[in-house]
Amino acid sequence: MIGGGLMGAAIAWRLAQRGREVTVVTGPGPIEAPGATAAWASAGMLAPVTETNFTETGLLDLNLDSLRRWPRFVDELADTGADPGYRTDSTLSVAQSPDDAARLSDFADFCDDHDLTTKRLTSREARRLEPLLSPRVRSALLVEADVSCDNRMLWSALIHAATTAGVRFTPGEVEAVTTDDDRATGVRLRTAEQVTADHIVLAAGAWSGSIDLPVEVPVRPVKGQILRLHAGTLPRLTHTVRAFSHGQEVYLVPRHHGEVVVGASVEEMGFDTRVTGEGAWSLLRDARQVMPLTAEYTLNEFSVGFRPGTPDNSPFLGPSGVPGLTLACGHHRNGVLLVPLTADAVVEHITDGRLPDCAAPFTLARPMTARKPRREEEP
Ligand code: GLY
Repeated sequence: MIGGGLMGAAIAWRLAQRGREVTVVTGPGPIEAPGATAAWASAGMLAPVTETNFTETGLLDLNLDSLRRWPRFVDELADTGADPGYRTDSTLSVAQSPDDAARLSDFADFCDDHDLTTKRLTSREARRLEPLLSPRVRSALLVEADVSCDNRMLWSALIHAATTAGVRFTPGEVEAVTTDDDRATGVRLRTAEQVTADHIVLAAGAWSGSIDLPVEVPVRPVKGQILRLHAGTLPRLTHTVRAFSHGQEVYLVPRHHGEVVVGASVEEMGFDTRVTGEGAWSLLRDARQVMPLTAEYTLNEFSVGFRPGTPDNSPFLGPSGVPGLTLACGHHRNGVLLVPLTADAVVEHITDGRLPDCAAPFTLARPMTARKPRREEEP
């Protein structure tokens, strides 16, 4: 397994449950920024509805399928004694300006057309549900399907489950996948050490496209700046709240222990690990505009993470076209959500030789046209 993030740990756990011997090489990822993996940096939203856009309905179906797998996945993790901080409090998408309200109304129509259950709320109804919202909120959409987990707890839970099932985690940065007679045979580390394997899974997140592979896998880093606040003894947010502010989307995701994760910028800056003044300031400003009390919360952390972007914003699942090399990468904005489905699909592909129907449209062989960037990526 190349990559010890959420995908790598989950697939390794599932393979070990099926009796496979698994070694996870936990890199790559720059040594100077181990926290930049999406597993560590992200907000943990499980949000197929509010993350969707009007053109990506195939991806929406995949995301909804994975969401349905979450409750059982959490139960199975609990059986190993691990807790991924799963919360079933729903999501409120809120509008603050007339333009926002029009956008939200269009989005509600889109949800109706696709049988996605939502509830339109007035400002008063939204603030009754979430009293910490700003009085400037004009309207809102309640999306019950969209929930969250604590991605850092999930990561620990998966490593615990995998280790308990016999998976071996070994540190190291993979430089290349080695081949013999056009079949993948193992990996070479930056230290020149070779690790051989019958089967290799590429699950290296945003670094998946930086490894020397026998096939081109177009994954690029999409930078996100994100911050973590803590309520301390102040009143706490209960729902995930999403809004547009100054042309950028902002989300606030609460944790059981009082933290609120506020994210995130979307920047095509390669592996730029800097937190910038603009990035920090705009997140704090936008969070305060949606929920004024955030200005009183303790600022615990600013960080940068890298989403694994692909030309069409969808992941690469299953066969790579090279025997012995399977893909589980390119999950872009939906990595945490897609963990259960990715693990199930990849394990079925490796152990039974077939990719389940849900994953079949997401192989590397699909036709790919670059999608229009999300609104905040536009110049
Ligand atoms: N899924 C949230 C983000 O990518 O910022």
